[in-house]
Amino acid sequence: MFEILEKKQMAQGTVCMFRLKAPRIARKTRPGQFVILRANERGERIPLTVAETHPEQGWIRIYFQVVGKTTAMLARMAPGEIIQDVIGPLGVPTHVDKVGTVICVGGGLGVAVIYPITRAFFDAGNHVIAIIGARTKELLILEQEMNSVCHELHVTTDDGSYGRHGFVTDVLKELLEQRKDVGMVMGIGPVPMMRFLCKTTQPFGVKTMVSLNPIMVDGTGMCGACRVRVGGQTRFCCVHGPDFDGHQVDFEELSKRLMMYVPQERESYQRFQAEVAGGSSR
Ligand SMILES: Cc1cc2nc3c(=O)[nH]c(=O)nc-3n(C[C@H](O)[C@H](O)[C@H](O)COP(=O)(O)OP(=O)(O)OC[C@H]3O[C@@H](n4cnc5c(N)ncnc54)[C@H](O)[C@@H]3O)c2cc1C
Ligand code: FES
Repeated sequence: MFEILEKKQMAQGTVCMFRLKAPRIARKTRPGQFVILRANERGERIPLTVAETHPEQGWIRIYFQVVGKTTAMLARMAPGEIIQDVIGPLGVPTHVDKVGTVICVGGGLGVAVIYPITRAFFDAGNHVIAIIGARTKELLILEQEMNSVCHELHVTTDDGSYGRHGFVTDVLKELLEQRKDVGMVMGIGPVPMMRFLCKTTQPFGVKTMVSLNPIMVDGTGMCGACRVRVGGQTRFCCVHGPDFDGHQVDFEELSKRLMMYVPQERESYQRFQAEVAGGSSR
């Protein structure tokens, strides 16, 4: 039984944190891995990254952005309620080596995904620089947590309401110009951000990894829904990823595939909102 032990809403209610009872998943999950969950017996399966685990106490922490029907449905659930299925850990753990200086870049909800990875690079003895950003101050998440797992933290907001005015990639470019010791950049966020991040690092020849978020269904490499082209080869993000060499990813195709079901997703969300307004939501 996957009980919600704690719930917190943040970023003006657009992001939600759940601490979930899941002892076996907590024991096995490594940074970079994710779970696929289903809120109830009629629910859709959605992948969410495991941001933190507590193997001794048997819980995992997940953060999700409310973007459509399932995430909106989850955001209405309360501590004590049960999530029907949580399958995991899935995906290949992030490869964490001692490479010297690592820059971890998180945009928007991507900060929640990069948080456990940043901690892993920090624990492995690297000099870790983190850059996190959001559209505006109120949407910035996990600043304190990120600060505790890096040596240097830079914060940006698109509108200049907090930290440095601009994009995470502006700071990244400056750092790459100033420092010659950067062994690796890891970037996670919306697809356009990851695409631009890879363009930024390419002229510097710095290894750049991104964690991709294609549509997933089974999470076991059998349905083909999550296929992405990396270095001209078809890869299944759920079993070969989610981390890939960003300079090899076909972002054009990834963006197109993410748009494939937008009309259906919009219709499903609207129907759900109408049901909620009418008093039935499952
Ligand atoms: C490996 C991986 C890890 C992820 N980790 C997180 C996380 O930690 N926090 C978080 O907020 N989001 C994460 N996502 C994205 C998350 O799965 C989607 O936001 C969620 O599925 C949206 O569901 P929905 O029904 O609310 O929205 P919908 O209306 O169904 O979709 C809204 C958008 O979400 C994406 N999406 C929809 N269904 C899926 C699906 N089955 N798989 C992947 N993307 C989908 C599409 O881009 C779509 O346009 C992750 C995705 C992947 C692949
Ligand atoms: S989600 Fe089905 S193959 Fe990856």
